[in-house]
Amino acid sequence: MRILLPDKVKTILSVLKEAGYEAYAVGGCVRDSILGRVPDDWDITTNADTGAVKSLFHRTVDTGIAHGTVTVMLKEEAFEVTTYRIDGEYEDMRHPKQVVFTTSLEEDLKRRDFTINAMAYNDEDGLVDLFGGVQDLENRIIRCVGDPKERFGEDALRMLRAVRFSAQLSFDIEEKTAEAIRALSGNLSRISEERIMTELTKMLISPHPEYLEKAWELGMTKVFLPEFDLCMDTPQANIHHAYSVGGHILKTMENIEPDRILRFTMLLHDIAKPLVKTTDEEGVDHFRGHQDKGAEVAEEVLKRLKCDNDTIRKVCELVRCHDERTLPEKTKVRRLLSRLGEEQFGRLLKVQTADTLGQSMYQREEKLARVAAVGMLATEILAENDCISLKDLAITGRDVIEAGIPKGPEVGRILAAALDEVLAEPARNDRAYLLKRIKEY
Ligand code: CTP
Repeated sequence: MRILLPDKVKTILSVLKEAGYEAYAVGGCVRDSILGRVPDDWDITTNADTGAVKSLFHRTVDTGIAHGTVTVMLKEEAFEVTTYRIDGEYEDMRHPKQVVFTTSLEEDLKRRDFTINAMAYNDEDGLVDLFGGVQDLENRIIRCVGDPKERFGEDALRMLRAVRFSAQLSFDIEEKTAEAIRALSGNLSRISEERIMTELTKMLISPHPEYLEKAWELGMTKVFLPEFDLCMDTPQANIHHAYSVGGHILKTMENIEPDRILRFTMLLHDIAKPLVKTTDEEGVDHFRGHQDKGAEVAEEVLKRLKCDNDTIRKVCELVRCHDERTLPEKTKVRRLLSRLGEEQFGRLLKVQTADTLGQSMYQREEKLARVAAVGMLATEILAENDCISLKDLAITGRDVIEAGIPKGPEVGRILAAALDEVLAEPARNDRAYLLKRIKEY
């Protein structure tokens, strides 16, 4: 098998080889190349130690000397070159083991997580596939190298990585590997939230966010997202619904584009339903107030997972308003646009469409038609350049002050009143008219 290596990778491999060392492209880049995908980055493994690597290249960065990794810079591109090693930086150990280096490629490949990630390649030796990685790629299987319990014992995060790769590639998880996850999933509690968040995000923006169900089945979500387990256990006896809360969440994630904010919003939009559920005398379930409570829970979850503040703000706002059924009337649409801003408004329409597609067929056409009509009106409003924010208003705070209103909250209140009037009637965004109105407000 031949893999087309980028020129810079060829350069690094040949510099190492001419200095008498072994060197291979390894891991994700080999896997992706065989799959015909363009690798994100190229990692190199070698029997040269970090000192040797540093002496052979002009520009290097000590990114992880203790773990045997030197980043080699060629032009502006970075390549991680790592000395063959037996054990990694296993974060779930209280005191990380001393990294042990080795001179054997086989030893290095043996300590990697999955067969599909444990292949090495260079042009001279071709593909080094000691554990059936190609076969597992062909059979579309995620399988640990060697004993799964050992691999997961070295790094518990690998259990979540198994589902993440499975979601990215539409692969199944091999039975022994899955069994080991079932037995050891509790150990995920020892993994930092940041590392969990990285894998969860990759899973959610993959072609199969609904594979989160596998993480649930295998007992992983109950460790880092117990709120989701509660949703899986909450049926919805309601004409609008066809699935449990959890099942609905999975469907809605499938029905929205692979964008981080949108997928996290769908994951969390109904997350508080189990907490507010009531059942009436007719046996119908209701979830009053789940939107506001949901925004609270979403914030809690995202903070716990060390998500950035900007994402938290956007996701929580969408969770809070995901159920607002604005009528397709221009004034109402202008008000919503004004409140959310164009970007969040656009997201909300996608969220509401996905939400509908995850419900029962009851009134589906009407629900989708409303969202589409609101979207059309918004397009018109934006094309007509209607004023939808204070910055488009024909008067400013200075005008209000010059009209004799003392500086302070009153100025803001008057501007808000003016904007409110203009949102109802765009023609009133007229300077002379609004100046006259200042006193009346
Ligand atoms: N690896 C491992 N165990 C981990 C993390 C990584 O064995 N917990 C090994 C695997 O061989 C993996 C390689 O290190 O292929 C590089 O890891 P990483 O960059 O995290 O993943 P990639 O396989 O490159 O995939 P992606 O770029 O999609 O994250």
